[in-house]
Amino acid sequence: MTFPDVVPVLTDGRVVLRAHRPDDLEAMYEQCSDPDTQRWTSVPAPYSRADAAAFLASRADGWESGSGWSFAVEAPDGVGPSRFSGSIGIRLLGPGLGEIGFGMHPDVRRRGVTTAAVRLLLDWAFRVQGLHTMLWQAIEGNDASLRVAWKTGFTFEGRTRGHVPQRGQQVDGWRGTLAAGDSREPKTRWLDAVTLTDGHVRLRELRLDDEQRYLETINDPESQRWLGTIPFPRDPAGFARYYARRCLGSAAGASVEWVVADTDDDRYLATMNLFGFHSLDYGSAEVGYRTHPDARGRGVLKAAMRLVLEHAFGSPDDGGLGLGRVSLGAGDGNHGSQRVAVSAGFTRTGRDRQCYDLSDGSIVDLVRFDILQPEFDARQH
Ligand SMILES: CC(C)(COP(=O)(O)OP(=O)(O)OC[C@H]1O[C@@H](n2cnc3c(N)ncnc32)[C@H](O)[C@@H]1OP(=O)(O)O)[C@@H](O)C(=O)NCCC(=O)NCCS
Repeated sequence: MTFPDVVPVLTDGRVVLRAHRPDDLEAMYEQCSDPDTQRWTSVPAPYSRADAAAFLASRADGWESGSGWSFAVEAPDGVGPSRFSGSIGIRLLGPGLGEIGFGMHPDVRRRGVTTAAVRLLLDWAFRVQGLHTMLWQAIEGNDASLRVAWKTGFTFEGRTRGHVPQRGQQVDGWRGTLAAGDSREPKTRWLDAVTLTDGHVRLRELRLDDEQRYLETINDPESQRWLGTIPFPRDPAGFARYYARRCLGSAAGASVEWVVADTDDDRYLATMNLFGFHSLDYGSAEVGYRTHPDARGRGVLKAAMRLVLEHAFGSPDDGGLGLGRVSLGAGDGNHGSQRVAVSAGFTRTGRDRQCYDLSDGSIVDLVRFDILQPEFDARQH
């Protein structure tokens, strides 16, 4: 059989994978001209209708040479008469090993179409084509692609430096794998920085325009002293890298970070994070924080801490994390931080001796605190 008859039609009853057709051209041109497609893939930039025509004309190649399989995605709410929604495909890297790639038209994103298409293609590739491992790669910072890979069961394997090809360059990236025997469901719990507010402060996700106040907070001498040698970003380039990677801890179920913002003008006041979820089975995590110098001494952190603890101890049925314990460590001598702990109801439990490196080269004890869920509840009533 030759193209397009060689291309099977795969469907779950809603989303269809089929051969590309000439009448997909206009919707494909729109998809590939969109800024996200340009930013995160290696389609030509700028993109022309001639590029779309060349892409469509080359769709038979992989099928005929045996180097891969390419499908058009069609969804009920796809674009135009052909209901083209995007493209998905597998490039064969070696015996049993493929790399999946996908991209959707902006009008059909965030409707689960890619997730469904990926699951359909994985089933076919493992079951019919006998592949044993699928690789997923994305340019660092492509949160939407990460979310699809996470949702369809890929295990995150790490960051790669200068390894993902894009228009003649090799850029930093992420990669994950899925084995034929793996479930097509998430392997970790995604920890979202859900918005939390009490009328005084608003906890929200980090944004690119937080850069200046974020860096002012880290670079203030008091922060420098007590944040010690922790590798926080300290300049704009570091902040850009940090921003691009901010979802990795959430995707791994390892950490979640909020910006504490002013409810009047939404400006950055502080950062709060929960981390150390590796002991999630025991229902425990650690809290960290730092306040912008001009927002200190105004109860910002006290309000933010209450919101974070409420979320941490809240029942998963109500969107909480269902933790039983939150711990906290403050450098010996960091009286401000220890006051935050005590005023939020934490109990001082002891100290880890001589383990906390300060920026001046000295090493101090880490004073340890924790609070249990019933203790927090009792303080709320
Ligand atoms: C990546 C891409 C294909 C995702 O397509 P999509 O159809 O929106 O994906 P889905 O609707 O199946 O979304 C899966 C999950 O990711 C979430 N998601 C999608 N885009 C997101 C974004 N920008 N940020 C955070 N989450 C996002 C969805 O909300 C959904 O989660 P939910 O089910 O919990 O709500 C699409 O954004 C795209 O075409 N981007 C440009 C091309 C590209 O980056 N391709 C991948 C190269 S590696």
